[in-house]
Amino acid sequence: MQGLTLTNDKPMLVLGIETTCDETAAAVVERRGDGSGRILSNVVRSQTEEHARFGGVVPEIAARAHVDLLDGIVDRAMKDAGVSYVQLSAVAAAAGPGLIGGVIVGLTTAKAIAMVHDTPLIAVNHLEAHALTPRLTCALAFPYCLFLASGGHTQIVAVIGVGNYVRLGTTVDDAMGEAFDKVAKMLSLPYPGGPQVELAAAGGDAKRFSFPRPMLGRPDANFSLSGLKTAVRNEASRITPLEPQDVADLCAGFQAAVLESTADRLAVGLKLFREQFGPPRALVAAGGVAANQAIRGALQDVAARAQTTLIIPPPALCTDNGAMIAWAGAERMAIGLTDTMEAAPRARWLLDANARAPAGYANSRAGY
Ligand code: KG4
Ligand code: ZN
Repeated sequence: MQGLTLTNDKPMLVLGIETTCDETAAAVVERRGDGSGRILSNVVRSQTEEHARFGGVVPEIAARAHVDLLDGIVDRAMKDAGVSYVQLSAVAAAAGPGLIGGVIVGLTTAKAIAMVHDTPLIAVNHLEAHALTPRLTCALAFPYCLFLASGGHTQIVAVIGVGNYVRLGTTVDDAMGEAFDKVAKMLSLPYPGGPQVELAAAGGDAKRFSFPRPMLGRPDANFSLSGLKTAVRNEASRITPLEPQDVADLCAGFQAAVLESTADRLAVGLKLFREQFGPPRALVAAGGVAANQAIRGALQDVAARAQTTLIIPPPALCTDNGAMIAWAGAERMAIGLTDTMEAAPRARWLLDANARAPAGYANSRAGY
């Protein structure tokens, strides 16, 4: 249930809480009457070390770590911002999608703060927060095209307005960051694997192996990464034991395939965008994979060919953080959207409620 609160020209201060995966984060953000934003504090505690020896995020460990860490992180964020609870216009928490234990921790904490200080609560969709982040860092108007590629999501989304999103493409199997992490793991590179694969790829020969270019040339804008990942596994076991140069060549071949496929999928996504909504104001990239320099280069080319501008928020705002949750909360509040104490934590929560699994993939994980 949502209720009406403020009008949009009032400056506001919002506390944001993020606990959907393996970052425990809180931030205070100001949204001015003219729609511009300013980060007053942004505290992120990554749990990478807690999960490293398992080679991936362990949900139960993540939830427990959020319980241990969150109060201190919120306290730090408020102190860094120099803001007291009575000054807050609202408290926002990521209410999903994500690992449910962590989501419950963050949302419950936000509800407690909202209740004690009699402050409005805003239950934010984590994907919406990624989608709106560029409006915090630059004066970007709607509509724009978002490419979101993280450990849990790979989507192309038309961002039409706050609360108004149309999914143009999605992965039909693995998320892109997940594929990087799995390739790293099979090649015995440390976790998290994305940056390691990028590093190894820099010294490799991308042409040594001919890996498939998933979905190339298809008229839809969907992604597929599991077949490519399997192709890397097959080649790796064929030439095992692996020398460092083999690992570098496998990484380079994998990354080149991802790049080519991504460029093709995004070109289609931008075409679909233009057909439905006219020219986008920008192509925006977010999520951990957007930290990859080679992928950034490919996105630059795609944007130039589609005659639009590429915007990638600074790395600390591309990966999970509290400022993006606070900002999404402020953007929602500015159009009068707040939530009640009944707001539920959600493991799955589509950004585009009308999105359906791509044709032929009804049983896949598409729709994440
Ligand atoms: O957005 P993010 O920090 O967290 C979520 O998954 O929500 O993204 C993390 C993902 C991981 O899968 C990580 O391996 C990947 O982003 N990643 C990269 C790079 N840096 C992080 N993938 C490819 N190249 C990178 N440089
Ligand atoms: Zn995220």
